Amino acid sequence: MNKPNIAILGATGVVGREITQIVDELKIEFNTIKFLSSPKSAGTKLEFQGKEYTVEETTPDSFNGVDIVLASAGSSTSQKYAPEIVKRGGMIIDNSSAFRMEKDVPLVIAGVNDEDLKWHKGIVANPNCSTSQLMLVLKPLKKFGFKRIVVSTYQSVSGAGLAAINELRADTEANLKGEKFENQCFKKPISFNVIPQIDVFCENGYTKEEMKVTNETRKILHLSDDVKIACTAVRVPVFRGHSEAVDIEFLGVNGAKVTPEEVRSILAESFGIRVIDNPDNFEYPTTRDAEHVDPVFVGRIRKSLAFDNGIALWCVADNLRIGAALNTVRICKSVIDMGVWGQR
Ligand code: A2P
Repeated sequence: MNKPNIAILGATGVVGREITQIVDELKIEFNTIKFLSSPKSAGTKLEFQGKEYTVEETTPDSFNGVDIVLASAGSSTSQKYAPEIVKRGGMIIDNSSAFRMEKDVPLVIAGVNDEDLKWHKGIVANPNCSTSQLMLVLKPLKKFGFKRIVVSTYQSVSGAGLAAINELRADTEANLKGEKFENQCFKKPISFNVIPQIDVFCENGYTKEEMKVTNETRKILHLSDDVKIACTAVRVPVFRGHSEAVDIEFLGVNGAKVTPEEVRSILAESFGIRVIDNPDNFEYPTTRDAEHVDPVFVGRIRKSLAFDNGIALWCVADNLRIGAALNTVRICKSVIDMGVWGQR
């Protein structure tokens, strides 16, 4: 089989480093690989599969001869380089929000809607981290028909990059010493605090992050506007791992009620999911359980008291893996396996 030339754009960032590690873990077969950054980190050495590589400054010509670019360098960088990549016959699997809602760009969670990769035109988008873990949970339940989905997220700071991780650490240390701290990444102090704002506010009173979850869910699961979806996204002082409380109202098949037992057994057999759900024994997933591992953990599966035919559940996942890097590399693997990489 022909092997692609791969580039990792944003290789020195939090997600870029994770992507590099997972390319190795998933044994992605490539012909050549290169690591790209802004001028700031260009020249940095990194070791990959026993070889030393020098991180290169990104220019349009960096993409000459590159078939697949795994990108996590922010929206403006993706917007700048995606056309250059496509022009040169390559494809970009992009972590930013730049192209997610564009009609001719598939928004993909590997294992959920890989079929959508067949119609890419050089750009494939990776969903927002909160959407990603939710999709693996919702997809196997779609057969019951969704009427309403209400999600509340508890998101760690690593979703906002390296600077945000450093801010949580510095703010916590300052707070414990009783020193003053000036927050920069977040609008409010993040240490010992919970902030009900991620990204900017939209006209409808929801934040952009909340609207991403709503709109991306609809696009990935091919849901009609009849399905009502709402999200409240909250930043919590956790370094790694996003948690979500999810309430789902079902249409039900032939009027049958969906039971917690049914949901538990379906999810236990589903791709990318691990069910931990035995409250009698205090067994339920916490954010720490998900650190550095692949599954989306689901627990607290119960009949909803708010909806007539509804289920409430709790899910946690490593936002840097399934929420970003793992899905990017899984998409890369699917693209190679399906033979749909390069110019279409
Ligand atoms: P650099 O390390 O040189 O700043 P994070 O989100 O963790 O801050 O990481 C962002 C990643 O994107 C880093 O690897 C960063 O490189 C890279 N990056 C940022 N801006 C650009 C740019 N204009 N061109 C290429 N890479 C960029």
